[in-house]
Amino acid sequence: MSVDLSSLEPYLPELLSGRPLAVLTGAGVSVESGLPTFRGPGGLWEGHRPEELATQDAFTKDPVKVWRWYEWRRSLVRDARPNDAHLALARIERLLPRSTVVTQNVDGLHRAAGQHNLVELHGSLHRTRCTQDGAVRPAPPGPFPQIPPRCPTCTALLRPDVVWFGERLPEKDWRAAETAVSDCAVLLVVGTSSVVAPASTLALVAARSGARLFEINPEATPVAPLAEGVFRTTASEALRAIADALSGRAARS
Ligand code: OAD
Repeated sequence: MSVDLSSLEPYLPELLSGRPLAVLTGAGVSVESGLPTFRGPGGLWEGHRPEELATQDAFTKDPVKVWRWYEWRRSLVRDARPNDAHLALARIERLLPRSTVVTQNVDGLHRAAGQHNLVELHGSLHRTRCTQDGAVRPAPPGPFPQIPPRCPTCTALLRPDVVWFGERLPEKDWRAAETAVSDCAVLLVVGTSSVVAPASTLALVAARSGARLFEINPEATPVAPLAEGVFRTTASEALRAIADALSGRAARS
C-alpha cells in the first residue's frame, strides 16, 4: 500500500536543510513488535484499573502483585524486536541529525533500533530504582530470582524505574521533551491515543510554537484537529514511506 505524503512533502526540504524534527511516540509504535497497547480490546488496562497496578499506593499495598504485572510485561518485551517503525525512525535520524524521538514507551525498542536522540518520558522496564536510596540500576535480562526484588546493597524493595500515575515526570526528561517540541519545524505524533497528560500536552506546545503537526495512527485522536495532515495507517507503513521520501530527496540534492 502506498502512503499519500502530499501534506508533508512541502516540509521535507526544510527538514533536510537542518530544521529540527520531533517525533512523539506511544504504544501503537510497538504493536507490530507484538506488544499490546494500553487502551482498547486486548490492551494492558483491559480488566485492570491503572491505580491497582501503576501507582505508589498499589505498590505499597501489594508489591508482589505489581511486580508480577511488570515481570509479565518484561517477559513480553524480552521476546520483542524493533519493527519497521522503530527502524524507519532510526533511519530518519541518520538523514536528519537534528531529530528527536520523545517516547511514552518503556519497552526500550527505540534504543534497540539504534535511536540516539531519544527521551524516554515514562522511564524504562530495563531499569530498577531502589525505594530507599533512589539508586537506578539495569534490571537483569531474565526474570528476577525473587519477587519482589530487593536492592543488592541495602535490601530495600526495588521498583521498576518507570513513571506511575500521580508521579511527576523526571524534570530533565520533561525539559528535553518540551525543548524538542518547541524548537521543531515538524512534529510527528505516532501511535498514541494522546489522552495521558502531560505527554499529551506536548502536541499543543508544538502547535503554539509554530510547528506543523502530523498524526500517524489508524484511529483519530484528540490531536487530529491540530494536525496539518493525518496518515490513517500503521506506524511502519507511514514511517517507512517518510524515510524513503527523505532519502530519495537527499540522494537527488
Ligand atoms: P494507548 O493504548 O492509549 O494508545 C495506543 C494508540 O496506538 C491508539 O491510538 C491506537 O489507535 C494506536 N495504534 C494501534 N496500532 C497501531 C499501529 N500499528 N500503528 C500506529 N498506531 C497504532 O497508548 P499510549 O498513547 O502510548 O502511561 O498511552 C499513553 C500512556 O498511557 C502510557 O505511556 C501509559 C498509559 O497509561 C503510564 O503508564 C504512565
